[in-house]
Amino acid sequence: MSAGKVFPETIRKMKGQERVPALTAYDYPLTRYIDAAGVPLILVGDSLGMVMLGYPDTTYVTVEDMEHHVRAAARARPNALLAADLPYRSYDTPESALSNARRLRTAGAEAVKAEGGQAILPQVEAIVEAGIPVIGHLGMLPQSIREEGGYHIKGRRQPERQALLEDARALQGAGAFCLVLELVTPAVAAEVTKAISIPTIGIGSGWDCDGQILVSTDLLGYSPNFIPRHVQPKAHLSDIVTDAVKAWAKEVACISR
Ligand code: KIV
Repeated sequence: MSAGKVFPETIRKMKGQERVPALTAYDYPLTRYIDAAGVPLILVGDSLGMVMLGYPDTTYVTVEDMEHHVRAAARARPNALLAADLPYRSYDTPESALSNARRLRTAGAEAVKAEGGQAILPQVEAIVEAGIPVIGHLGMLPQSIREEGGYHIKGRRQPERQALLEDARALQGAGAFCLVLELVTPAVAAEVTKAISIPTIGIGSGWDCDGQILVSTDLLGYSPNFIPRHVQPKAHLSDIVTDAVKAWAKEVACISR
């Protein structure tokens, strides 16, 4: 667990030494609590669209939404490395990718994450060359939900396996310092993990990745709509909140005039 400020190089060096736990956070208090627990990598994920803003998927999230939440999280001044997602369509070209990465950086993000492999290499290269660290994201890409028509497990077929391996190597070559693998079959996630020298951070991709990331509201039982099958919540905050509010409302109702 982290002692002192975490940098991208700290995360990169954890490969083969210790597993990387990572969680999402979207605001000041949650960033403080997660940081106090010693988690070295905190992501202001565009999952905030679903779990904080009530949208059906992440494609509604704007750069302005991300800036707002990154600013709040950054005010916690975490020891953890604070990364942020480049939202949907904000990195269509190397120019837009760099300008939006700079906006998130100015808001307080210390690294940015973008979804995709070889298709976004020029964007990744432009951001890395400008000195902003990049996290890759392969496998099921939530921002592609409209094209894909659902959240599908990746790596089951040989061409998908091959593409994942090639994309992972290409992102490493472009300078990404770690790589999220989302809903990749455990066998292929393990193969990708062995094939590259930067850490893989899995989500729903088995236990053979170099680290694990979860949407914090899933872990804490606070996600409003559903909790994915790969998550075993460690708390049930939504019940705690409802029960606390009910108890207080009852108290108020019982006070005699
Ligand atoms: O947006 C997000 O929360 C993410 C994680 C699930 C990796 O990208």
